[in-house]
Amino acid sequence: MEWKGGRMTLSRNVCHDFQDRVARIPVHGLGLSVDVYSPDLPSLLADLTRRQVFPMYLEVFHATFSALTTVRDQTDLPLPYHGEGLWVTQPGAESDPLFQEEAQVLASHLSLLRSAWSNHECATKHIAGYSFGTYLPPLYTASSADVVAKNISLVQAIFDQQAALQGGGSPLFLLEMPPLTFFVAGTLSIPAYFRRVTDQAACGLVLDVGHLWTVYRYSGAWRAQSITQFVDDFLREFPVERVVEIHVAGLAVHESLVGKADVVDSEDPNPLPRWTDAHAAPIPPVLFEMLDRILQCGRLEHLRGMALEVDTKPSDLIADELAWFLERYRHMFDQDVPRGSVADASPPPPANARFSTNDGSVLKTESLSEAYDQYAQVVSSRAEPVGPNWMAPTACADELDWYRTKYLPHEILHWGGDIEAMFPETCRAMAGQQIALDGFVSYWFHLPHPVTRSYDFFDVKIDRFVDFVRELAPDLEPLAQREATELRLAYQAASEAPLSTASIYP
Ligand SMILES: [Fe+2]
Repeated sequence: MEWKGGRMTLSRNVCHDFQDRVARIPVHGLGLSVDVYSPDLPSLLADLTRRQVFPMYLEVFHATFSALTTVRDQTDLPLPYHGEGLWVTQPGAESDPLFQEEAQVLASHLSLLRSAWSNHECATKHIAGYSFGTYLPPLYTASSADVVAKNISLVQAIFDQQAALQGGGSPLFLLEMPPLTFFVAGTLSIPAYFRRVTDQAACGLVLDVGHLWTVYRYSGAWRAQSITQFVDDFLREFPVERVVEIHVAGLAVHESLVGKADVVDSEDPNPLPRWTDAHAAPIPPVLFEMLDRILQCGRLEHLRGMALEVDTKPSDLIADELAWFLERYRHMFDQDVPRGSVADASPPPPANARFSTNDGSVLKTESLSEAYDQYAQVVSSRAEPVGPNWMAPTACADELDWYRTKYLPHEILHWGGDIEAMFPETCRAMAGQQIALDGFVSYWFHLPHPVTRSYDFFDVKIDRFVDFVRELAPDLEPLAQREATELRLAYQAASEAPLSTASIYP
């Protein structure tokens, strides 16, 4: 009880800290979450201007300092930030110089853009030395939530020291609930997990409606509940009062599954598509039905913005969707009324439920590292999904094999750089020696390969393929090295290329 009482006091202090911080953030309204390069930001904004469709802010995805400088110089719109590569879910950050360095670089980007917040997925692409191309959600356990809270506090302290805003205060760390991609692991429910994080860290949250749909789909909830019941139950437990931004993005059947598993088995009475998070795809209407339900919950007291996440989406589709979004939701930000005043409010969960956990035991950091190592082994087909993290009622591995046998191999061989297109001469020579490229997938995971510089999947892919060639066809290594050097130079040049010099927004 004493522990619980101490935590309750901590929670109250954390809550006040959050309220002080969020009070300094102005309402941003309806915006776009964009990538600087894809689609090319100046061209996108020129197209929007032509269409007379104007976002109220741009949440800018992680880019180089020089590219961000160009963006800041050419628009007066508020530019909050979408960070990348700072893996707050992983244990050991406090003693990892690379994590500290990433946080400092991030602080410099926030100062440059004068960002009011920095959003980060509660996810990682690097676990126990193994690299992935797209986000893996955390293990949803109590000890994992505790580590996330501690890591966020470390990063927020760096923002406070190195990224002060002109009007006072510093950018606020926002944590985004990540998508599920076919599975979920852990002993805590997802909303209880985020409640546990926000009870210990003064961060805000981003609620991504498409991600929430994937939770409905891949937690197995869809088999027992309607989407409306699911959203209501989820929000009742989720710390909605910490939500600062809402994202809406597309969903689609992943290209590695098309034609193989578009929908669930036909004998199911209510089949749902096997969609995953897909920013290039159109936004399905169900997400706006979910959004309307979320907006009615009455607890969005600190909402500052809603953005369509449109990186990699065609400009015309962005303009169509933004025009509709502005028309439908502009009234939300017309007057500065507290978002908690909407009718039909659901009460927050009882205070004594806030620290409840189904964990049974609190794992130490070392065992969390071991648990993440096991997690990496399971998702890469080197271990079976057994044990509490895979068998608890909050876990769901029913569709894990789609990830293991289709999605992940596609990611290694094709996504974020197609190996045959990257190394055409080496691949031709390997084929001549009867060496199949498929072996690269198992090679990728046969040993951990720690990352020693800022995480970049394309860079990792280059390094790992050269290693693969060295091991299987040593005589081809010089050829692979030459192609690797050309790739690195071209990639660096593309990342640093100046954006259009025309003003990107009136
Ligand atoms: Fe998002």
